[in-house]
Parts: sequence; structure tokens; C-alpha cells
Amino acid sequence: MSMKGIVLAGGSGTRLHPVTLGTSKQLLPVYDKPMIYYPLTVLMLAGIRDILIISTPEDLPQFRRLLGDGGSLGLRFSYAEQPRPEGIAQAFLIADVWLAGQPCALVLGDNLIFGEHLSGLFRAAAERPEGATVFAYQVRDPERYGVVLFNEAGQPDDIVEKPTVAPSPWAVTGLYFYDARVTEFARAVRPSARGELEITDLNRMYLEEGSLQVERLGRGCAWLDAGTPDSLLQAASFVQTIQSRQGMLVGCPEEVAYRMGYIDASSLHGHARRLGKTELGRLLKDVASGLHA
Ligand code: G1P
Repeated sequence: MSMKGIVLAGGSGTRLHPVTLGTSKQLLPVYDKPMIYYPLTVLMLAGIRDILIISTPEDLPQFRRLLGDGGSLGLRFSYAEQPRPEGIAQAFLIADVWLAGQPCALVLGDNLIFGEHLSGLFRAAAERPEGATVFAYQVRDPERYGVVLFNEAGQPDDIVEKPTVAPSPWAVTGLYFYDARVTEFARAVRPSARGELEITDLNRMYLEEGSLQVERLGRGCAWLDAGTPDSLLQAASFVQTIQSRQGMLVGCPEEVAYRMGYIDASSLHGHARRLGKTELGRLLKDVASGLHA
């Protein structure tokens, strides 16, 4: 069974009002690309090619306009609506028919994850036949996230959603890999006190049966969420720094499609040409010409 992937790009982006009163958060620029490109490339690096984009009924047409059917990248995009922000785990109920019992990864549309060796970790997670895999990252403000508590053996003991006092600094990132039972599990999740189907409750089901793997991301990895004015600016500066210093692209679907062997150099040249005289177009052209490692 090959794994499918979902990018969840719904919500009302209240922490970015008034900017998000007029457009979707996940279409805002993170430096030189729309925000959704970053989580999308994460799924691509995991080897996932069949991808469902979920957003609000108002915003979904704009995602379609931006991304199309994915054919020019060797991918297959489908689209589905989440009418109200009723929780991350709802994505699996919305995706039920499309998923058709396949295993599935989910990434949140405002998460940026970057670092050496990560694609190997993502691929391994996508290939695990049973259980679920999530990633934990040390942050200074874990109370804003799902938080994992590890026991002395380094195994996950508990996961709590936005605790008042965090039991550890390890926040759960917005990238999740699940086996084929995910919809069945999602159906058993009940709304939380804030009225949402919490992804943390779904993860706890896997934890309780002993099949949740928590990979700790260490130094050398960046995990940023671009959901507030400050984190959006930080994410943009991060991408700008890497790209202008090293000439390496962060979160560029055309580049990843080429490196994964889904499109060839001449098709990549075509994508670069369509980006005109932008710096991004120039960097892509370098990749297509073999000028970059
Ligand atoms: C959500 C999840 C949380 C996770 C976070 C990652 O939080 O509920 O467990 O740590 O995404 O970005 P939310 O963005 O809904 O506040």
C-alpha cells in the first residue's frame, strides 16, 4: 500500500487578523513562496505523490488556482472542504472516501520543517507498516502545542494538548504519519473542551496501544510555524538566510519534484522560465543546469 498525504490548510487564522480577513493564512508568502509550499514539499520528500488539500469552502478555489492537479510536478492533487474548523483529526473523516483505507500522512499547512537527513526520517515513517510516527522538537513555549512526556528509557509516556504547565519542552510538530487504521481511530475521537477533534487524542490512541513512535528532532533541524506575525517573519527570514547564503532552495516543489525524479531537467527549465526574472526562477535554473549539489 502506498501512503497518501493530506495538507490541512483550513482555519480562520485568527492570530493573523486582519491579514487573514481577506485571504487564507496558508497562501500568505513565507519570503518568496506561498506558505503551503513548505508543508507540501515535506510530503513530497517522504515519497508521497497522491495529496489531498483541505481548506475552507471560501479559500479552496484559490488553492486550486495555485496548485492545479499536480500533473506538471508528477503529483496528483485532490481538494476537499472543511466547512468549519472542528479540529485537525477531522481531516481523516473528510478524507475517508478519498483515502480508501490507505495509510496516510498529515501535515499542517503552516508548518515549516527543514534540516539535513530529514527526508530519510520522513521516508522511513512513510514506510512503517503499522502504527504512527510523530516528531518532537524542543521549544521555549511548549504550552502552545501538543507536548510529549518521555520516560527514563526515552519512550513516550504521555501526550497532552496545550497544557497550562508543560511536562517537558518537547512540542509535537504538525507532521503525522499513520497506518491504514487512521480513519477508524479518528471516528472514535470525541470533541474536546474547546469543541475540536484533537489530533493529540488520536495520537494518544496509538500511544496507548504502544504503537506511537516519537522521533526527536535535534540541533540542525528547524521547525517553525507561521501562524502569528512574529513566527511568520521568523520563518521568512530563515528561508531568506538559507537561500541567499547557500543558494539552496527551501520548500520549492519544482526542485523537489526534480530531485525525486518525477520531472526531468527540461521540464524543470520550463518551470524556471515561468517564474520569469525572479531570484527563485534563477535558482531553479541553476538546479536544472546541474550547478547545485
Ligand atoms: C496543533 C496541534 C498541536 C501541535 C501543533 C503543531 O495546534 O493541536 O498538538 O503541536 O498544531 O503546529 P494548533 O495549531 O491547532 O494550535
